[in-house]
Parts: sequence; structure tokens; C-alpha cells
Amino acid sequence: MKIDIITLFPKMFSGPFDESIIKRAQEKGLVEIEIRNLRDWAVDKRGTVDDRPFGGGPGMVIKPQPVFDAVESLKSKSKKQKAKIILLTPQGQPFNQQTAQHLSKSDHLILICGHYEGVDERVREHLVDEEISIGDYVLTGGELPAMVVTDAIVRLIPGVLEKPEAIKQESFSPLLEAPQYTRPENFKGWKVPEVLLSGNHQEIAKWRKEQALKRTKERRPDLLK
Ligand code: ADE
Repeated sequence: MKIDIITLFPKMFSGPFDESIIKRAQEKGLVEIEIRNLRDWAVDKRGTVDDRPFGGGPGMVIKPQPVFDAVESLKSKSKKQKAKIILLTPQGQPFNQQTAQHLSKSDHLILICGHYEGVDERVREHLVDEEISIGDYVLTGGELPAMVVTDAIVRLIPGVLEKPEAIKQESFSPLLEAPQYTRPENFKGWKVPEVLLSGNHQEIAKWRKEQALKRTKERRPDLLK
């Protein structure tokens, strides 16, 4: 898979994809992540990519031209594959595991990070395939959301996780996870549930299922609907 991330702040991405599972996924050639500076598609010498909003109001709006040009040039680099264009914005569809699963099957994703007061509406209307929000709060831009979305997608690409069975057991597919424990058996007097030490795999599986259901009922009853 190829993921291009278009941003006005490329330095924000130095680090998060250079560690652990996402780093190894790139080294294994399972995903190629490229950070693209929107200013590279500005047409004037000053690198202008934003302007004041028509009708007045505070802040600046990202111009359509650099975004259209950036997407066009990145799309043309992957001729065979159809790129999916995603805008990160608080007005998008709420991101969840199901969306991550669906997007992890794509060949090429282009993520556009909004900033300032927003992006010219014509980008939304005529360029973008999907708008995604990572939650009902407003961040300073789409950079952190692009990292969240990329992380959630990349770990689902076949071959990225060493134990892909874990994906089936983990939260949101469809229940929250059961409690996990590791050594020591007794920590400050708090003991690991007996059943987990029993070696009885059937009983352990049953206990985990019950715990997962109990936890989901208590914390996220909406997931059971
Ligand atoms: N940009 C600013 N806030 C955001 C959010 N919550 N989700 C996605 N993009 C954003």
C-alpha cells in the first residue's frame, strides 16, 4: 500500500512512523508512507497556499489550486491503482475500526490535512472521496488525525502484525477486550484471577468471553446494539 500525506507542517511527522510496528511495516515493503509539503505546489515564489475567506471572518482558508495540483500529481504517480482521497476534518464521518478495516484494503491513499479555518469547499465537493473525523473535538489541524488513521490502517495490512490472530480478539471487533495480566502472580497483594493460572484453555476462553461482555455492557453498551 502507498499512503501520501499532504500537509503544511511536514516536520510534525518526523518520528511517529519511524518506530516499532509501523517502521517495520515500511522496512518489509508492506507500506510506503510519504509526507508531502503542500507548499511545493504553490505557484508563487512566496509559497502562498491560503487566502482570506470570501464574505469575511477570522483566519485563512486553504486555496483549492495547490490541493488539486498536489493530488493530481500524486495520483499520476500510481497509474494502475485508483487512489482514494481523504480529507481529515472535524466535520467528517467518525473514524472507527470498521473504516480502518475497509481502508486497509486500498492500494493508494492520499490523506489531506486541513488547517487554519479550513479548506476551500470545492476541494470537498470535487476532489475528496471521504471526510474523516477522529472525534468530536477540534484540533489545530489534520496532522495528528492523519497519524491516527495511518497507524490504525497500517497495522491491519496482512503481514504487518506478527500474530494476526490478535486482531480478531481485540477491542471493537466486536467487544471490548478482557483484562490482561502478566508476571508477577501477586503484585502488592493484588492477585491474578485463578482461572488464568489454571492451564485450562477452555475455561480461560470462557472467562475471557464473559469478561469482555461484562466490560462492554458496563463501559460501551452502544457497541452491543
Ligand atoms: N482537524 C481538526 N480536528 C479534527 C478532528 N477531530 N478530526 C479530524 N481532523 C481534524
